[in-house]
Amino acid sequence: MDAAAAIIAEGRCVALTGAGISVASGIPDFRSSGGLWERFDPMEYATSLAWRTDPDKVWELFRATGTLFHASRPNDAHLAIAQMEKEGWIQAIVTQNIDGLHQAAGSRNVIEFHGNSVDIYCESCGRTFDREESIGFLSSTGAVRCSECGGNVRPSVVLFGEPIPPSALNESVRLAAGCRSMLVVGTSAVVAPASLLPLEASAHGAAIIEVNPERTELSRRATVVLRGEAERVLFKLLDLLRGRMV
Ligand code: APR
Repeated sequence: MDAAAAIIAEGRCVALTGAGISVASGIPDFRSSGGLWERFDPMEYATSLAWRTDPDKVWELFRATGTLFHASRPNDAHLAIAQMEKEGWIQAIVTQNIDGLHQAAGSRNVIEFHGNSVDIYCESCGRTFDREESIGFLSSTGAVRCSECGGNVRPSVVLFGEPIPPSALNESVRLAAGCRSMLVVGTSAVVAPASLLPLEASAHGAAIIEVNPERTELSRRATVVLRGEAERVLFKLLDLLRGRMV
């Protein structure tokens, strides 16, 4: 933990987070035992092809996750990350998560690499929907059609086979190439191109700090591995960082 604090204290640290950071908020991750992909086969519910051929089915996943997200609050891990940003220890947070909990915790410079479940729009006419309408969609059934043009309505999430939003991709690669360290929290690091960001950082000389109770694809490449839950580890790390200020 001291080594991790020393690395972050050198400055220009960027956080990369995954579903594990939201587990303590009651949102299951995807690939751990009991994860979302045990309930919903991603190839049936979360691909671009599934969306084109069976939007009703994909809306089942949107409703299950959207209902979870609306009922969830940031946990200590999100709060610690927001405090690290506020105190200048980290520059930005690139998140693979679509639950909006980093922003809810007070983080400001958040890049949503896989979009988000909050911004809902019509694919045909581009009409957007406010929070009340979006919550209303969660209690209806089947695919949602635009009342103005009849087009398919969906959240701004990136399904498998869809492109990462160009602005998010470009900014994330810029941050990875320019950081001196990357704090990688709660990701199995198996889904590209997000999983390539720590490799991009490392290729430019950055140190990699991993926070995860389990071993991952990234562990053997990490400079420091903090083997534990993010909601327990991150505030301890913040305390050590503050201790370096005196
Ligand atoms: N603290 C830290 N890490 C945790 C915690 C916790 N409390 N609980 C679980 N983890 C770890 C798990 O050990 C696992 O390594 O979080 C990781 C979650 O991995 P995944 O479920 O694969 O989630 P993620 O890496 O975010 O998935 C990436 O894949 O399915 C797509 O689009 C989806 O954004 C997602 C992407």
